[in-house]
Amino acid sequence: MRHDRPHAVCMLGCGGFVGSHLLSRLLDEGSFKVVGIDIDASKIRSLLDHPRLTFLHLDLHDTERVRQLVEQSDTVISLAALCNPSLYNTIPLDVIEINFMGPLEVVKMCAELNKWLIHFSTSEVYGKTVGAYTPGIAYDDEAVMLNEDTTPLIMGPVSAQRWSYAAAKQLLERTIYAYGFEKGLDYTTIRPFNFFGPRMDFIPGIDGEGIPRVLACFMEALMKHKPLQLVDGGKNHRTFTYIDDAVDAMMAILANREKAAGQIFNIGNPDNGVTIAELADLMISVYTELHPESAERGIEKENISARDFYGEGYDDSDRRVPDITKARKLLGWNPRTRLVDGLRKTIAYYVEEYQALCSHREIG
Ligand code: UGA
Repeated sequence: MRHDRPHAVCMLGCGGFVGSHLLSRLLDEGSFKVVGIDIDASKIRSLLDHPRLTFLHLDLHDTERVRQLVEQSDTVISLAALCNPSLYNTIPLDVIEINFMGPLEVVKMCAELNKWLIHFSTSEVYGKTVGAYTPGIAYDDEAVMLNEDTTPLIMGPVSAQRWSYAAAKQLLERTIYAYGFEKGLDYTTIRPFNFFGPRMDFIPGIDGEGIPRVLACFMEALMKHKPLQLVDGGKNHRTFTYIDDAVDAMMAILANREKAAGQIFNIGNPDNGVTIAELADLMISVYTELHPESAERGIEKENISARDFYGEGYDDSDRRVPDITKARKLLGWNPRTRLVDGLRKTIAYYVEEYQALCSHREIG
């Protein structure tokens, strides 16, 4: 898509982990101007004075104001979400509201105002693999690679409220698809596979409360000299995608509107697959490169049941390996960062930002 004037992007949820990295790249590019909204700007403070950014402290409930911003844009990037698994079974109504009802209004606006909607969904829409329900099936990476257009989406029972998030995200994906089908909505849906990098989540007791995602949980444990907790033995499997690779994918989408329109893309790195127990070992080894004295002191791991860690109603995706053939073909995108290299950068960031603060509040 060619623009004689800057490409006007409206970013909903520009202040989160993914938003902060994407915003920084868009502003560096020169050919974009951005109107960004969020309820928290702490991760994007250094960008707030940028001449091509207009930032507004706003949430999606202010539909009139959001509508005006959408109207003035060429493209809408919808990132606002509650995407922390510890919330799915504890505040499911908020999870459904924020991940479905709020963004639904944005979908309607984009359809009505004829805007390209780039929507962030989740790899969690795949739910569990068929193998999780058919014990004995051998895990063959080729066979269980998740494909955007052919793999079924399999979730647990309603009482397993873990799936409140995935179900909300799935229904929104289906709604977007239906708006494309019936009303000609121009959309691209992204399914992120465990993006990680600097500025992800928070460290409990320092800049947030509750349970963050696994990477920040393990960082907290490492920096506060607590055992790393392996939920159900850390048997579940994820593929981790370094944030710079993920932002490359988003830029490739923005540069290829015709090819990307009407598509769902897995954005993930199939070469970075590990069980959570393996992730713990890798993080311990990278952390001890930076802090050899912690190896001498000893770093512990402990098993904990999902029920004790997350409470009633937690359930889990067993394995998520993306098939990224479509993104490779249509966008020419290829993730390049090996897990260990991404972890080196990310762990160095956490140590720089938080180690001193954690040492003050160390829990023995
Ligand atoms: C989450 C979100 O639900 C997804 O929407 C999102 O796409 C995804 O993160 C992501 O970052 O892309 P999940 O992978 O389950 O999904 O999130 P984590 O909280 O990072 O959990 C990963 C695994 O680590 C789970 O099996 C969890 O039980 C385990 N875990 C977590 C531990 O073993 N120990 C911990 O301290 C924390």
